[in-house]
Amino acid sequence: MTSRAIALDVEQVAVRFGGLVALSDMNFTVGEGEIVSLIGPNGAGKTTAFNVMTGFLDPAHGKVSYRGATLNGLKPHQIADLGLIRTFQRTSVFPNDTVYDNLLIGLHRQGRVGLFEAILGLPRGRASERRLRERAAELVEWVGLERRAHDPAGSLSYGEQRLVGVALALAAEPSMLLLDEPVSGMNASETHTFVELIRNIRDRGVTILLVEHDMPMVMSVSDRIVVLNYGRIIAEGPPDAIRNDPDVIEAYLGQGAARA
Ligand SMILES: Nc1ncnc2c1ncn2[C@@H]1O[C@H](COP(=O)(O)OP(=O)(O)OP(=O)(O)O)[C@@H](O)[C@H]1O
Ligand SMILES: [Mg+2]
Repeated sequence: MTSRAIALDVEQVAVRFGGLVALSDMNFTVGEGEIVSLIGPNGAGKTTAFNVMTGFLDPAHGKVSYRGATLNGLKPHQIADLGLIRTFQRTSVFPNDTVYDNLLIGLHRQGRVGLFEAILGLPRGRASERRLRERAAELVEWVGLERRAHDPAGSLSYGEQRLVGVALALAAEPSMLLLDEPVSGMNASETHTFVELIRNIRDRGVTILLVEHDMPMVMSVSDRIVVLNYGRIIAEGPPDAIRNDPDVIEAYLGQGAARA
């Protein structure tokens, strides 16, 4: 694991919202082909970290680089073009369109084929439209939604809609995928299947950074875990070390006590 090339490098990143320090001198790396989870109590700064990495938020200071390229100052679409693709904590699908059509729309949006060429049935458009249809079908199958392919996306369970979000992210052909709470709303069996999907995505060469509250899921899928609390990294290591880390236990128990 130590011999992996670094894919994502986050150095001294800080984010403030007025007086609130959302991230404080955050330092961590993700290796090529690694599955790393970023965990921490509500409000710890996990989504904020994703926003910085994907160009939705400028840090007060610090630097993020991906495969050697500095990301600071780049727009989200420029970062996506480098292969770094995220999903959102809330997935939005077009509810009246089928799962398959949602993917087709997503593929068209990436501008691989002009929608005009496709609609007008121009020869180049026809060939590429056929290719896009094949690709949409592949993606639906990859995330295991083939039985729902022709149902309106809005009729899917919340967990299945999250899979549509993942398929849309995969449509962008990421080299690194950032998943923000992908299994929230999934039942145990959907979550189990999702873990298999993450492994399968990684085995196809995609690096994964996961934000998730489902601890059994995080423990089973991660190569390494980074723990945030109040914008600071309080622990980092393999699942077994994190599970037994007193600071991590304290951070989660503290939150539990506050909720009770
Ligand atoms: N745009 C914003 N303006 C002001 N404060 C914000 C903004 N975005 C996030 N925050 C605050 O920054 C802190 C970190 O929020 P963030 O959404 O990153 O947490 P999180 O770890 O993703 O939490 P959760 O597990 O609930 O999704 C929180 O205190 C939050 O209220
Ligand atoms: Mg969040």
